Amino acid sequence: MNVHPYERAWLWFARGVIVVFIGMVFVSTFMWGLKPPSNMGMIDPRHVLDDARFGHLGVEPQDDGSVRVSIVALMFTFMPAEVRVPAGRPVHFRVTSMDVTHGFEVAGTNANTMVIPGYVSEFTMTFDRPGEHLIVCNEYCGNGHHAMQAKVIVEAAGVSP
Ligand code: CUA
Repeated sequence: MNVHPYERAWLWFARGVIVVFIGMVFVSTFMWGLKPPSNMGMIDPRHVLDDARFGHLGVEPQDDGSVRVSIVALMFTFMPAEVRVPAGRPVHFRVTSMDVTHGFEVAGTNANTMVIPGYVSEFTMTFDRPGEHLIVCNEYCGNGHHAMQAKVIVEAAGVSP
């Protein structure tokens, strides 16, 4: 078969791109240990509240000035339904579900993770300025899905959480 040299070159280029992309998946997975935020640990969904990670729901200030926010999702609410966090400090969210798959999206930001029963979702973000953000469930979870929401209130740093 006769293939024009230019076409042959582009075919090799395309093969190279595919190899590089597949290689990047392996490097990020096995060398950097990157995982989706919805898969940072496992938990027994029947005993979430007995687990030390969810023994204290809501905001817990950390020694380094950051805060930890532990939230449980269940049909059709989040516990707690309101959290107050400081602006300009890292906020470590930790979320799990006691029943079905939910979503956890901080509206107006890029914070967004699935909340899957049996798994702990974790991510860290910093809110630049004070304000209020809605937290919405963005995975259909039943007939109360549309009403499943919570609120994060960002306060000026220095105000104790
Ligand atoms: Cu929970 Cu939709």
